Amino acid sequence: VACRALTQPAPAIPDVEAAAIREAVATRKLEFAAGRTAAREALGLIGVAPVPIPVGAGRAPQWPSGVVGSIAHQKDLAVAVVARTEHILGLGVDIEASGALTEELWPQILVPPEVKFLQSLATEKRSSCATVFFALKEAFYKFQFPHTKQWLDFGDVEIDLDPAQESATLRISRFLTIGTLAQNAFAARYRMGDELTLAAVSLAAS
Ligand SMILES: CC(C)(COP(=O)(O)OP(=O)(O)OC[C@H]1O[C@@H](n2cnc3c(N)ncnc32)[C@H](O)[C@@H]1OP(=O)(O)O)[C@@H](O)C(=O)NCCC(=O)NCCS
Repeated sequence: VACRALTQPAPAIPDVEAAAIREAVATRKLEFAAGRTAAREALGLIGVAPVPIPVGAGRAPQWPSGVVGSIAHQKDLAVAVVARTEHILGLGVDIEASGALTEELWPQILVPPEVKFLQSLATEKRSSCATVFFALKEAFYKFQFPHTKQWLDFGDVEIDLDPAQESATLRISRFLTIGTLAQNAFAARYRMGDELTLAAVSLAAS
């Protein structure tokens, strides 16, 4: 795992990466470069050379052979997670401003059992917990896409939260093949801070 603050100037990135954002606005260039730089730092932590990470199909980063990973950014911060496929088959990460998913957005993102869960909470806890659902779904999308190349709607996934453990189970009505494993339920972890909510989905190689 590596993080990078989104502070100017944007870090230098390889030409193949820069070409992908040549037309982008400055804030997008900064978050992209910070995410790629964090990713190379994370690769170094697992002993992988700091290679370019091109933009692949569906915007998914193209990781070096034998590596899975994921990138997320928020207005101040980029985070990257990577692992070798001998240990981890798939990874997805997301970071959101805590409390960002206000009640008027729930119908677009949540399924009825998730709404019922939120309604069982004290009113002041609902938006922060709803943001956990949102971050988990985005992390799950990034986790599965490199393997399935499938678009998922937010309603395709139903989440059971275990707030005491800051963990969750994500269920989908069909089996998804991630590396060598086909499953329809996936474990995830989250951390709900005062400012930021971080969610991650991973699948260990068995
Ligand atoms: C793709 C998506 C998840 C990105 O989330 P976001 O909050 O907009 O942006 P984040 O900063 O969290 O993440 C962006 C990073 O995600 C990664 N990413 C984007 N598309 C991806 C994909 N198809 N597969 C894997 N990773 C992807 C990229 O690394 C990207 O950063 P980069 O362009 O600088 O490399 C979001 O824009 C989206 O389209 N969501 C709708 C689909 C969805 O989440 N469905 C829920 C199913 S349960």
